[in-house]
Amino acid sequence: MQEKISEIKVKFLKEIEDAGSLKKIDEIFLELFGKNGVITELPKHFKGVSKEELKEVGPLFNKTKQELEEKIRVKRQEVKEESYKEIEKESFDINAKVELPKRSGHLHPLTQFEQQIVELFRSIGFQQFESPEIDDEYNNFEALNIPEGHPARDMWDTLYIEGKGERKEGNLLLRTHTTNFQNRAMKKFKPPIRLVNIGRCFRYENLDARHEHTFDQFDLIYIDKEVSMANLQYLSEYLLKQVFGPEIKVRMRPKYYPFVEPGAGVDGLCLFCKGKGCKVCGGIGWLELAGAGMVHPFVLKMAGLDPYKYSGLAWGFGPARMAMLQNQIEDIRLLMSGDLKFLQKF
Ligand code: FA5
Repeated sequence: MQEKISEIKVKFLKEIEDAGSLKKIDEIFLELFGKNGVITELPKHFKGVSKEELKEVGPLFNKTKQELEEKIRVKRQEVKEESYKEIEKESFDINAKVELPKRSGHLHPLTQFEQQIVELFRSIGFQQFESPEIDDEYNNFEALNIPEGHPARDMWDTLYIEGKGERKEGNLLLRTHTTNFQNRAMKKFKPPIRLVNIGRCFRYENLDARHEHTFDQFDLIYIDKEVSMANLQYLSEYLLKQVFGPEIKVRMRPKYYPFVEPGAGVDGLCLFCKGKGCKVCGGIGWLELAGAGMVHPFVLKMAGLDPYKYSGLAWGFGPARMAMLQNQIEDIRLLMSGDLKFLQKF
């Protein structure tokens, strides 16, 4: 047994000495001291050794074990220090020139599109007005002729902030449309009023290729003496032809909104299916782009304007739906997905 211990010692001291990497040292360590390692297993064979011999074998075994452990510890340190020296030899030039591929960013396609729309209306005399994204029920509903308890409130899937979903006076909500600027704007300015409001809206929606929970809207009002549906028709065509080109087909159909009378839905012919019906237009062939109409006399009155003297048109649409049509984007959710492959196409 003493011979066997000595053989192990000589063999492994040499192996440790020759090891040139930490990986190799770890392998040797496991071979000796691992679960089934040579040193771990050795005492199992002491059973057959006589008591006399064991007096010699025991201390020899312990000494050998310590020597091997110590040799491994020292060798590990040596290998580490050697590798530090290698690192020290490496030079690092902080002035080195690195040619990076030239990459420049660009505005998000929706931002590009919205800037284009704002500019189109600025050039015909419309100013920009801003209303809050977190608003009260008065501006989002009541001032728009939708009093508390009116069933028309169900048309907007509203996210309430206070009152745990109860509809109480003074409740705060995430605005469901940018139409929430109308009352403020009409109180602030005297006719003629030509304003646009663009920004983020929120709805508790079932999401699909055309519906997002967070999306932008663009609202417009034009209040003056003798403003009529003819002006509305003109402005709708003005915008849609500028955006989609003269070939775009526009239709207006009667639509109910409590804050306009008469009310209209402005649709554009679906450019994906050319009117045949597809996933994007929901099989209808037309894509609803905007809600519009003549400002309801009650809404004018609530803002302190005389409905016998003034009339106005109002208009609200979703830039994302228009940008989809303009750029042949099949799913509205791609726009906010943060997918660079998609965004880099614009
Ligand atoms: C309104 O929100 C009215 N405030 C618009 C209006 C203003 C009518 C002034 C009359 C006068 P509506 O809920 O239909 O209407 O939304 C208007 C447009 O916003 C839609 O045509 C659509 O383009 C866009 N939109 C509505 N909901 C979503 C949604 N979940 N995701 C993306 N776009 C949406």
